[in-house]
Amino acid sequence: MARIALTVNGTSQVVDTDPTTPLLYVLRNDLGLHGPKFGCGLGQCGACTVIVDGSAVRSCSVTVSSVQNRAIATLESLGTVAKPHRLQKAFIDEQAAQCGYCMNGMIMNAKVLLDRNPNPTAAEIKRALNDTLCRCGSHLRVVRAIQRAAGARS
Ligand code: FES
Repeated sequence: MARIALTVNGTSQVVDTDPTTPLLYVLRNDLGLHGPKFGCGLGQCGACTVIVDGSAVRSCSVTVSSVQNRAIATLESLGTVAKPHRLQKAFIDEQAAQCGYCMNGMIMNAKVLLDRNPNPTAAEIKRALNDTLCRCGSHLRVVRAIQRAAGARS
């Protein structure tokens, strides 16, 4: 066990845990942040995606000790029910979710994409989300939602 200092959604946190614990487990089990989901646990589906220092990271596949002193953002940092982030609003408006399990990964990867490329083409969106899996087959609605969110940028 070790004391691990984290910065999550702009707040400093300290957890006592095995330093090799996957970040996802600490976020969900120790910090109560349930935006990131456990899908495959193998870095293959994207359901667990968080943003670390501006890049999308699969939190099931990085140890908690490897992200000390880095800025971690989870889905909870984007918006609220009362005041959703423009991506969250666009996903709702396009009814992009079916079961919804992949939405964390879709939205967090889309956030990184739009931060780097505010007006992506459909091809660029598809490339950015290529490895983020949706078993319901909502991909076309997801692409539309991201295009809508990009258009909503002021
Ligand atoms: Fe992390 Fe699937 S749960 S990539």
